[in-house]
Amino acid sequence: MKLFRRISEASKWFQARRRAGKRIVLVPTMGALHTGHLSLFRKARRLAGRKGVVAASIFVNPAQFGPREDFRSYPRALKRDLALCKKAGIDAVFHPSAGSMYAANHSSWADETRLSRGLCGRSRPGHFRGVCTVVAKLFNIVQPAIAVFGEKDYQQAQVIRRMVRDLNFPVRIIVTPTRREPDGLAMSSRNLYLSPAQRGQAPRIRRALMEARRQVRMRSHPAPVLARKIKSRLAGFRVDYVEVVDARTLESVKRAQRGDRVAVAAFLGKTRLIDNIIL
Ligand code: PAF
Repeated sequence: MKLFRRISEASKWFQARRRAGKRIVLVPTMGALHTGHLSLFRKARRLAGRKGVVAASIFVNPAQFGPREDFRSYPRALKRDLALCKKAGIDAVFHPSAGSMYAANHSSWADETRLSRGLCGRSRPGHFRGVCTVVAKLFNIVQPAIAVFGEKDYQQAQVIRRMVRDLNFPVRIIVTPTRREPDGLAMSSRNLYLSPAQRGQAPRIRRALMEARRQVRMRSHPAPVLARKIKSRLAGFRVDYVEVVDARTLESVKRAQRGDRVAVAAFLGKTRLIDNIIL
């Protein structure tokens, strides 16, 4: 398994693979890898084929964290991550330094301005600009044919799809279902922050969403009523938002019905958890 820290070396290596006709599939990550990432890697391998190249990037992207967010404390476990990548059959890991990705006078950004307005975009101003910028940079450096993302970050996946379409990146975006713990909690590197008591509470988000889906499958509900019902099941959380949105436009809907998405962000202590479900 190749490990690249320098952008120029990574670019050169990926370019040579592309010229040799290899299909490159990229899984962008911020590290602290878990079973959810491993399933993205498996998907990437299936898409690349045995002869293709599966690449993972590991980069805690400072540009997508707000000033009071967890950039400094975000879990970093490079040695363990590299061992997991190796075991998962990853061909190349790109792990640049923040300084090499963002020059001190960095002043160019990729931004998506419609799908990123609501939900996490509202509570985390600048977050999606940071995500779009780093993903655009990774696409330029690696030039993958395909990139794989997880559905837990549903809004992120939609924003990236839109950016790729609007800015004509020749990259196919594949989004894979959320991997869950046996009790339903969506897998996330941030789950590591949870105390045992909080970890016991955390699956209630999934249960509230499942119950909402069950109710909507019986009959449609006014969206605010459904959101209130979900919130009422989240006592003990500090709810950032519960919103029923059109799955394509991410605009709030008036009536929640089959095919809409419900997205939730809620804090347990300082840990912000997100999840979503298709109704
Ligand atoms: O989903 C993530 O881990 C990050 O937002 C991503 C896509 C790797 C960009 O930093």
